[in-house]
Amino acid sequence: MEESRIETPARALSGIGRAVQGAIYAAGAYGHKPKVPVEPAALYAAARRRMSPQAWSYVAGSAGMQRTDAANIAAFERYPIVPRLLRDVGERSLGVSLCGHDLPAPVLFAPIGVLEMAHKEAELAVAEAARSLGLPMVLSTQGSVPMEQTAKALRANPMWYQLYWSNNDDLARSLVRRAEKSRAQAIVVTLDTPLLGWRTKDLDLGYLPFARGEGIAQYLTDPVFQNLVRDRVAEVPEEPARDERVSRRDLSSERPTLTAIRTLASITRHYPGRFRDNLRSPLPRAAVETFLDVFPCPGLSWDDLAKLRDWTSLPVILKGIQSVDDARLALEHGADGIIVSNHGGRQVDGAIASLDALAAIAPVVDGQVPVLFDSGIRSGADIFKALALGASAVLVGRPWLYGLALDGAAGAQAVMERLLAELDLTMGLSGIASIDQITRDCLST
Ligand code: FNR
Repeated sequence: MEESRIETPARALSGIGRAVQGAIYAAGAYGHKPKVPVEPAALYAAARRRMSPQAWSYVAGSAGMQRTDAANIAAFERYPIVPRLLRDVGERSLGVSLCGHDLPAPVLFAPIGVLEMAHKEAELAVAEAARSLGLPMVLSTQGSVPMEQTAKALRANPMWYQLYWSNNDDLARSLVRRAEKSRAQAIVVTLDTPLLGWRTKDLDLGYLPFARGEGIAQYLTDPVFQNLVRDRVAEVPEEPARDERVSRRDLSSERPTLTAIRTLASITRHYPGRFRDNLRSPLPRAAVETFLDVFPCPGLSWDDLAKLRDWTSLPVILKGIQSVDDARLALEHGADGIIVSNHGGRQVDGAIASLDALAAIAPVVDGQVPVLFDSGIRSGADIFKALALGASAVLVGRPWLYGLALDGAAGAQAVMERLLAELDLTMGLSGIASIDQITRDCLST
């Protein structure tokens, strides 16, 4: 008997702590240990064993010397919880209202790109996990599955869409419109990635998933992007000049290696349509090159955000805020919410820990808009601390991704429900009966 997967439909999260604990111990009585480890370090180690070196480096790696990632985790040590006693916590509720919607808990699935590296069912598996818990899923622009398909798999479950604003406004607008049509409830604009960070682990492997056609499904299925690709093919001469070939390290300019053949096969496989037709077509490779050209958007500025208001009536939430000044600018520019995040340390090495940024920003925003938080959440106690420091809700990133790698939808669900279980128990053990009671004085510093 495997520990039973607990049916946790949205509004039934009260008591989740004991329910999850009970199921695991009951399975243990028959000699069954959890398939997906509970303890965070064991989860990390098991996922590492399961994934390829390339996938692991992309997923677990961060920028430079990995100092921001380490700082994110270490920061939680600096805000100890002070448990209170004898406060009648027999009935506990994790429910909150966020951006006008009731949620079973203040927890979202963070937008994560290239999920196919963790599991072949990618977003479709995560959608199943999110649906089983009733928690919002934030769909990444770097998805492995077109957003319309994921939206369908989510059914009525809340879904938000995360936008990477490319350097082509027509493309950005098209993605936002598609998200709106797919019934997204909010647009999350990630502002900390105008350029890709200096990711040392990926650089040492020479590995960029997008160059293999992975994680660009939203683009390949977008009509504006498809036109850009066709234009590119029409413009580029069949046989590029030798200098150009060498400078771009075009695959066709070198003697083919096994890796080059695999890369070409991957690009061809990811392009919509039949593999055999794609093999003969210049479009798949042109699509990857077009993506690499349109992705960086270092010219974006605060004034550009006004365009979003013409494109959509959905709430706009700005992700990647780390400074009090940028939080103020977000408010001045009419953001409906912010996400204090440093992208899990994947962008700037040696940056402020995201939790310290939250501690400074939340009092300044002072409830004017929701302040969400991510980067470093590894446990239910971590969620409790972020909420105590003023977060309205948190996004969880790598932990559920590790669960996904280990056991697909069930693995992602298991990790998330254990975080909720630990949050519930941490509340109960700290004298807290509802999320709004988690305040700054629950922490000692
Ligand atoms: C991310 N993150 C991210 N963010 C975003 O806005 N769009 C994206 O496509 C991605 N893709 C992505 C891929 C991978 C492999 C990781 C690990 C992260 C950042 C993500 O939303 C979130 O900010 C971090 O995951 C939070 O850090 P921790 O808690 O996972 O360390």
